Amino acid sequence: MRLKDYLAQNIRDVPAEYLPSHAKLIGRVALVRLREEVEGLKREIGALILRFYNVQAVYLVRGVEGVERRPILELIAGEPIREITHREYGCVFRLDITRLMFCLGNSFERLRLAGLVSDGEIVVDMFAGVGQFTIPITVLANPKKVYAIEINPEAYAYLTENIRLNGVEDKAQPILGDCRRVAEKELHGAADRVIMGYFWGTIEALGPALSALKPEGGIVHFHDLARRGSEREFIEDVLERARRMGYRVEPIGWRRVKSYSRTRNHVVIDFFAMRV
Ligand SMILES: C[S@@+](CC[C@H](N)C(=O)[O-])C[C@H]1O[C@@H](n2cnc3c(N)ncnc32)[C@H](O)[C@@H]1O
Repeated sequence: MRLKDYLAQNIRDVPAEYLPSHAKLIGRVALVRLREEVEGLKREIGALILRFYNVQAVYLVRGVEGVERRPILELIAGEPIREITHREYGCVFRLDITRLMFCLGNSFERLRLAGLVSDGEIVVDMFAGVGQFTIPITVLANPKKVYAIEINPEAYAYLTENIRLNGVEDKAQPILGDCRRVAEKELHGAADRVIMGYFWGTIEALGPALSALKPEGGIVHFHDLARRGSEREFIEDVLERARRMGYRVEPIGWRRVKSYSRTRNHVVIDFFAMRV
């Protein structure tokens, strides 16, 4: 049975279209968004979701804030659970779900990226979070080193813990700091591949990302939000900016990672770049 049908059976006098069609499950926690029309019923809906998925906590997602993408959550049923363990493709991720973001919708992108990394590569993961890309790359592929840069000390602590939990300390190097400075100053000319997994001003980090590539060039995975139907213009704009920074650029491809809103998609552009 679908969640919406279950809720509709148990909550009378509310049009079914106002009820959520699903919740996201991570660890023993369900995360749900509610329409304004049913906010007044949040406790009732929360209790039903708790039973439907047999989870220990149901959090209402109110949004995400700040550079560090901190989730704004409200417990609406069950007991407060902060730290969860999520398993995916043989990788383990631990994090405080009430403080940090972990997007289940990016799961295929994490696997895809790990599949692109060749033996012995040097990778720079610029917005490393809790290791969303660094962990699959080091567990599933065989890079020489992944430099994982994270600005938020709380996320950095979990990044370090996840590197240890997955036993990849020899391949992953966590770095606490601003990736724009670290990529430009400490990792200049070091990388075969740079991952820019963030979409709130990714473009501001493009120069530092390019400067981290080896002199013979390398691959950039550039994430951002693009207006639906305008993806081509958006991609050309990013590539043109790289050209204007003095790089030869060869597009490899792009894909829609997920739908972000009614008007925008989360997309990733893969391109080769080399300083000319
Ligand atoms: C939403 S998470 C994304 C994690 C992962 N890259 C992914 O795509 O799933 C973005 C992370 O980038 C970090 N961040 C934001 N600005 C940064 C910067 N200038 N330098 C390093 N990390 C940064 C945030 O703290 C957050 O942990």
